[in-house]
Amino acid sequence: MFQTLLVLLALTLCAQQAVAQAVFAHVIVGNNGAYTLANWESDIRLAASKGIDAFVLNIAPPVEGTVADQTALAFQAANSVANGFKLFFSFDYLGSGVPWETGDIVTLLKQYGWDRAYYKYNGKPFVSTFEGPTNSDVGQWATIRQQVPIYFVPDWSSQGPGFEMDLYDGAFSWDMWPKGPNNMTMDVDKSWQGSLQPAKKTYMMGVSPWFYTDLPAYNKAWVWRGDMTWARRWRQVLKVLPEFVEIVTWNDYGESHYVGPIFEPGIPQAENADARSYVLNNPHEAWLETLPYQIAAYKHAFNPSNPAPSVAKGEDKIVYWYRTAPASAGTTRATGNACMSPINTSPQDERCYPIEEIMEDGIFVLALLSSPGWVSVAVGDGPPQRFEGLGAGLNHLSRPFGGEVGNVTVRSSTGVVGEGTAILSAPANGVANFNAWVGCAGHCS
Ligand SMILES: *[C@@H]1O[C@H](CO)[C@@H](O)[C@H](O)[C@H]1NC(C)=O
Ligand SMILES: *[C@@H]1O[C@H](CO)[C@@H](O)[C@H](O)[C@H]1NC(C)=O
Repeated sequence: MFQTLLVLLALTLCAQQAVAQAVFAHVIVGNNGAYTLANWESDIRLAASKGIDAFVLNIAPPVEGTVADQTALAFQAANSVANGFKLFFSFDYLGSGVPWETGDIVTLLKQYGWDRAYYKYNGKPFVSTFEGPTNSDVGQWATIRQQVPIYFVPDWSSQGPGFEMDLYDGAFSWDMWPKGPNNMTMDVDKSWQGSLQPAKKTYMMGVSPWFYTDLPAYNKAWVWRGDMTWARRWRQVLKVLPEFVEIVTWNDYGESHYVGPIFEPGIPQAENADARSYVLNNPHEAWLETLPYQIAAYKHAFNPSNPAPSVAKGEDKIVYWYRTAPASAGTTRATGNACMSPINTSPQDERCYPIEEIMEDGIFVLALLSSPGWVSVAVGDGPPQRFEGLGAGLNHLSRPFGGEVGNVTVRSSTGVVGEGTAILSAPANGVANFNAWVGCAGHCS
């Protein structure tokens, strides 16, 4: 009898733990002001089909207008698609330069927190933020928590681990891009975890593929190392094993870290702040194509009773990305090459590097193979570089494109063939574009 109870208890604990791994994608609701119900439904179907569990709805005041209208549409869509996909709020404290009012937050949480499509954890509506750690903002959350039950996982990363821990249940770190000419490490994630785990709080780790922004009117012009960061970060997820992962972002076009479809009205296009020139010909959706495998690997590593990732025969694919001209070619609209790459700390620490030190002129590849073999990558008429001895499953590869120009051709021993947009010796219009072009060959959706 006692043993049965123990087994039951163990099973219950396991079952509770099994809930604690989920992958979200950050959606800038402000960029979806022109979305229809069908747009939301199509995004929800796409994200769910790639293994994403929920959209994080980034909202900034005022509530009236886009926030109110698009939030309503998003919940309507999630309920009509009814595939188990969820939504939750991230209150953005920097998005509009206006602080969040306690009453507005409480009203929104009362209105949507118990919606069937609202993501819940430990039986409570899950709530996040983008920054907001000033004294008055922080105190506000004690008040909010008295009025609505929430599972609170703010991003107060500007303050670092340990700040006001009593106020939250978990923490999200926005620190997910390399500083300067370095690869992204897990150091920051580990230090967050080190403060959270002893306090039995959860960690939400950020994974982002890229960061390039050239919007002079907003004083936003910099680039951080993308290159293999997307692939590397997903591998780091397997080591950090955070309770939650947040992909940054689904649709932030101005900062080039969107992984969802390009929605032209959502691209910044004000005078001297027009991102269309570096977004419109740079699709990123192919980055979603390896996600089912990466997410399965994460959930399996977190809890081995989840199925291990695998690539079925005939489902081989190659996802590959690159910039379409050497980093040293072309001029930027903003500050000139030399100052396009401040490191991602506070503005006082801003430091510039030559672009070529930040980014590699390379072709970056994730290959999903159903059986061991090879992958080759060629530029134009140049000799294909062949990567031999690859295993079944997910393979990470890259090669420089050096001075080669022309279309990029990828092949695999398992029959994948694909051709990607041309690499040029210099940008066609002379203006640098440090965004990535991302393609998928083989069994792609
Ligand atoms: C960064 O990673 C690349 C491979 O993606 C490697 O070639 C390079 O040596 C690494 N750089 C540093 C500074 O670790
Ligand atoms: C390169 O690809 C484009 C389409 O992406 C195609 O129009 C062009 O013919 C290709 N160039 C070569 C040399 O195959």
